[in-house]
Amino acid sequence: MKKTESKNKNRQYKIAVIGGDGTGPEVTAEALKVLAASSKKNGFKLDLTPFDFGGERYLKTGKVISDKEVDGLRKFDAILLGAVGHPDVKPGILEKGLLLKIRFDLEQYINLRPVKLYPGVWTPLRDKGPADIDFVVVRENNEGLYVGEGEFINKGKKNEVALQVSRNTRKGVERCLRYAFEFTRKRNKRKKLTLCAKTNVLTYAHDLWWRVFNEVAKEYKDVTTDYAHVDATCMWMVKNPEWFDVIVTDNMFGDIITDLGAMIQGGMGIAAGGNLNPEGVSMFEPIGGSAPKYTGKNVINPLAAICAGAMMLETLGETKAASEIENTVMKVTQTKLKSLSAGKMGYGTGEVGDLVAGAL
Ligand code: IPM
Ligand code: MN
Repeated sequence: MKKTESKNKNRQYKIAVIGGDGTGPEVTAEALKVLAASSKKNGFKLDLTPFDFGGERYLKTGKVISDKEVDGLRKFDAILLGAVGHPDVKPGILEKGLLLKIRFDLEQYINLRPVKLYPGVWTPLRDKGPADIDFVVVRENNEGLYVGEGEFINKGKKNEVALQVSRNTRKGVERCLRYAFEFTRKRNKRKKLTLCAKTNVLTYAHDLWWRVFNEVAKEYKDVTTDYAHVDATCMWMVKNPEWFDVIVTDNMFGDIITDLGAMIQGGMGIAAGGNLNPEGVSMFEPIGGSAPKYTGKNVINPLAAICAGAMMLETLGETKAASEIENTVMKVTQTKLKSLSAGKMGYGTGEVGDLVAGAL
């Protein structure tokens, strides 16, 4: 959320840095390069503490992250994360044990994911440009299908049943919707908030979302409300992305539509997100994952991590520095990079970091 003043007066911020798996550490290094240039220019200080949580540590020690270690993250002003996911670790262990654990335990109940096409960036939507693709997804980040509730009945038998529960609490839904309304108002663009759900099928979970959405809307008369089923949302995101200003949705749908969002904004190389606890410690990450096949090759695009760094500064209250970085990234995408895809940028990972840091 936009703050006009920085969070702490002396402008010194304690940042936990989790490079994580695969290309995570490489892109994080570039984000830190840009943040260092920005801090020098703008006079704030980042006090960095690296952590080695991730697949390699897990394979060596059998430990992902303990309650105590997560607790230790509370003393930081923010967390910068590279990526989570290791080819030698069974799917789910690191994702649940590290990424989701931090999101849940630190009550980062909002996942804020801007979908913005920068100038000069190729989009698969032939007739759309930067003026058409500029919206933000507010994804609920602590509930829904992600709570991991469920069971197997008759596991392995012919009559097996697997249940996976979507938990939606009024408290969780309401705080997410309130954040979304507030965010839409502050963003002050078209002041339109679209609820993306599936009220015609999920007649319990999304009935709650629908009712609370309409209740909270009464307090935000300046915000225009809209509703779209999730399948239709996917369609409109491709056909008429310019209709969207802010979309609010549950955890699972938010996960899915933001990958589609990343594609229309130019790919995983540019898509950044913030896991926000507006009252606590937030964590910023490129949303693309660990991309193991590109690891260590100096080909991965660090712009998403750099943009995550900018989102972090914005949340810390360093708004001028944040928008400078975003503007510089836009300049670099417009004038330098051939493509945003790994290996096709015309520059190496480190050079892209240098371009942004240098242009700052
Ligand atoms: C994301 C990722 C995660 C999610 C995975 C890695 C658990 O896809 O941040 O979007 O599903 O939230
Ligand atoms: Mn995802």
